[in-house]
Amino acid sequence: EKGPYRHYMLKEIHEQPAVIAETLEGRVHRGRLLEEAFGHEARALLDRTRGVHIVACGTSYHAGLVARYWLEELGVPAQVEVASEYRYRAVVVPEGTLFVTISQSGETADTLAALRRARGLGYVGSLTVCNVPESSLVRESDVAVMTRAGPEIGVASTKAFTTQLVALRLLAIALGRRRGLDAARERALCDELEALPRQVEAALRLDEAIRGLAEAFADKSHALFLGRGVFYPVAMEGALKLKEISYIHAEAYPAGELKHGPLALVDAEMPVVCTLPRDPLLEKVLSNLQEVRARGGELFLFSDGEVEIPLDRYRSLPLTDTCPSTAPIVYTVPLQLLAYHAAVLKGTDVDQPRNLAKSVTVE
Ligand code: M6R
Repeated sequence: EKGPYRHYMLKEIHEQPAVIAETLEGRVHRGRLLEEAFGHEARALLDRTRGVHIVACGTSYHAGLVARYWLEELGVPAQVEVASEYRYRAVVVPEGTLFVTISQSGETADTLAALRRARGLGYVGSLTVCNVPESSLVRESDVAVMTRAGPEIGVASTKAFTTQLVALRLLAIALGRRRGLDAARERALCDELEALPRQVEAALRLDEAIRGLAEAFADKSHALFLGRGVFYPVAMEGALKLKEISYIHAEAYPAGELKHGPLALVDAEMPVVCTLPRDPLLEKVLSNLQEVRARGGELFLFSDGEVEIPLDRYRSLPLTDTCPSTAPIVYTVPLQLLAYHAAVLKGTDVDQPRNLAKSVTVE
């Protein structure tokens, strides 16, 4: 069933344009979010919601971190935490808070335990963003917004993550509406979502070129991933992918934190990966990268096609078709491919990395 692909992970990476389109189907139409598609209980719950607490593990946690930036931009207070910490914390729940879980499998033990614990804490209700309709999380949540990624076989989550982000954008628009998001802006945001399958398709065409970049990683023991703003959690996801399947130690940092410690690690043996979208933090990121270059760090950049890069040495690949509200989804794709090719070059078991299970049903 892998078709022409050598691994499930590669197949699943390439399925993303189709499953993103599938996740949007019947939910966005003519520049409007069709909120009814969330089910009849959703409206009342969203009406009561003033803010959200998002809880998840691993890649799904990273999706929650991206969503925090999106929600806050639309005026919705949002907190995000890993389930294994949340479940043992003395959580204080402000009035009007919705409890949101994110999970591919819907069976992750910590996430499920967090949902059960949340029940007695005074939330307005619970919503899950999940990929498996018959799962425990879907059964036990008040509302489920399904991702339609289809079965994900590779242990490293790829298409589940990008479809989670699509579902979370829909949720952000729904909550944004209740905070004064007007029809014109909603239309613009929906149009940006509908452009995604095409944009992800274009990002996938970098595959061969990324395989070339990956050669520089196969003999390294460490890598640093940098990003700022909403691209910081994208960097976290890129680092998780690399460490999980290639066993190269990878860490993500918000680029502004470099000089508070990690810069001490930078030398020619520590490749530095960074996304460079055209956004308000671009100048700041570039000056952080200047510091990396000054220490002899080798830069691997995924940058907006129109961005000028005033650095003395770097390797970069352009993403030429992105929109502000959805760019984190498009920029994730080359990071997935980089991890994939580095792992293949190292000869690891890409679909079934050592020590890991697809679904973590024990604490
Ligand atoms: O099924 P879930 O989304 O709840 O799983 C959460 C994590 O176990 C999962 O995302 C894990 O981090 C992946 N292996 C990452 O690629």
